[in-house]
Amino acid sequence: MRNEQDYGEIVAGTESPIWIRTAAVGDVDKLCAYYGTLSRDSRYNRFMGAVSNFSKLAFDCLMQLRRAECFTLVAEWHDGGCDAIIGEASYAFDRGKGRGEFAISVADRWQRRGVGEALLSAVQARAVSLGYLDLFGETLKTNEEMKSLARKAGFAFTRSMDWRAVRFDKRLTG
Ligand SMILES: CC(C)(COP(=O)(O)OP(=O)(O)OC[C@H]1O[C@@H](n2cnc3c(N)ncnc32)[C@H](O)[C@@H]1OP(=O)(O)O)[C@@H](O)C(=O)NCCC(=O)NCCS
Repeated sequence: MRNEQDYGEIVAGTESPIWIRTAAVGDVDKLCAYYGTLSRDSRYNRFMGAVSNFSKLAFDCLMQLRRAECFTLVAEWHDGGCDAIIGEASYAFDRGKGRGEFAISVADRWQRRGVGEALLSAVQARAVSLGYLDLFGETLKTNEEMKSLARKAGFAFTRSMDWRAVRFDKRLTG
């Protein structure tokens, strides 16, 4: 069911609609299943390392939602009465650093169809609506897809504290 926190239909030209909506604690099983469908490479890139306990990842991600300054968005595909998560973006505002950090992923078979760009736009819009205007992310230096997505969205690149990674920052406009 849609609510005011949905972002509407994305990805034109698919037979079944795809929506971006705010995740809730009750999505833990769906999110766990989604992490399990990601290829090893996509998961490695998403979490910047090898991970295996998907239910813990999903649980930890959604438990953060108890904090007002955190949110998770999911892109969901509705087909024949079934809903499946095909992408996600998590955001957490760090009060100490005064900026929000995000990470994002899209199911392998849905990549390169505009879902990542739509999720990133929705993250930016939500952060602005919360009044958090400084946004950053980090990705492995080898992750050309994410670097290209961030560049296209207007993020500026700097060094990361993690030697394996690059950092990208953007000042959002309210
Ligand atoms: C990075 C990722 C989220 C992009 O999602 P996506 O849905 O495929 O991206 P989109 O289709 O919206 O593409 C938007 C832009 O991203 C960049 N991009 C996406 N895939 C790319 C690829 N394979 N090669 C180069 N650039 C790519 C392009 O700039 C693209 O714009 P364009 O289509 O005008 O060229 C996706 O590749 C992914 O989930 N990767 C695994 C997880 C990950 O790496 N997460 C990053 C951790 S922060």
